[in-house]
Amino acid sequence: MARKLVTTSDGSHTLFVAELGEHYHSVHGAVQESTHVFIKHGLEALTSGDGPLYIFEMGLGTGLNLLLTALQPLQRPVHYVSVEAYPVSAEEAASLNYGNLFEAHPDAKHLLQTIHTLPWGEPAELKPGFTIHKINTKLSELDWAALPQFNLVYFDAFAPDVQPNLWSEEVFTALYNQMQAGGTLVTYCAKGSVKRAMKAAGFTIERLPGPPGKREMTRATKPI
Ligand SMILES: C[S@@+](CC[C@H](N)C(=O)[O-])C[C@H]1O[C@@H](n2cnc3c(N)ncnc32)[C@H](O)[C@@H]1O
Repeated sequence: MARKLVTTSDGSHTLFVAELGEHYHSVHGAVQESTHVFIKHGLEALTSGDGPLYIFEMGLGTGLNLLLTALQPLQRPVHYVSVEAYPVSAEEAASLNYGNLFEAHPDAKHLLQTIHTLPWGEPAELKPGFTIHKINTKLSELDWAALPQFNLVYFDAFAPDVQPNLWSEEVFTALYNQMQAGGTLVTYCAKGSVKRAMKAAGFTIERLPGPPGKREMTRATKPI
């Protein structure tokens, strides 16, 4: 997939895939969107427990969601599993400006580099108390039995119009089965057919205000 670096409205980078006509993030602000959808309405909204936090991400891409998560002052160990079928190259990763955007976090640059240089296919320590496991495969080929039960899912696939098979009841059922009771899945997408597929899988659905440039987003919870 040929990708082009693009600067979004909040000054943060994203990637554009011409073949799909898709950006990796909102052009209204990549950091703004990821913070709103995945951190504010996902990570910060978690209420359950103080034991280890198991996070699953669909689509590691630029590593932005992972970086933002690692910058949070979490008081519990984190195990972050991310699946990615088409990893960004070392040159693409090095060109992303996320490491320079967080004045309060001088460690962001080093964390971003580490995210992209740690090996694939095995758990590795990103920083003390924070383990990442990057898996280079398609979501449909994941060995779910080898993975933990997740508290939180960042569902960050390309849009359903472009990759309809990734937003199906079958996929959401697999995720539902891999989540702890009370766990949540967040996504930028608010399409009716997607919410119906989530509901059919067993999730309880919430419509939440979207990030700038987008009316709504979705949070799905596995009932207790
Ligand atoms: C919307 S982008 C988001 C990426 C990432 N979360 C970020 O912040 O940069 C979607 C990601 O899903 C990946 N992807 C597409 N199809 C996939 C599949 N079948 N299995 C796993 N990853 C896939 C793409 O390569 C891309 O990195």
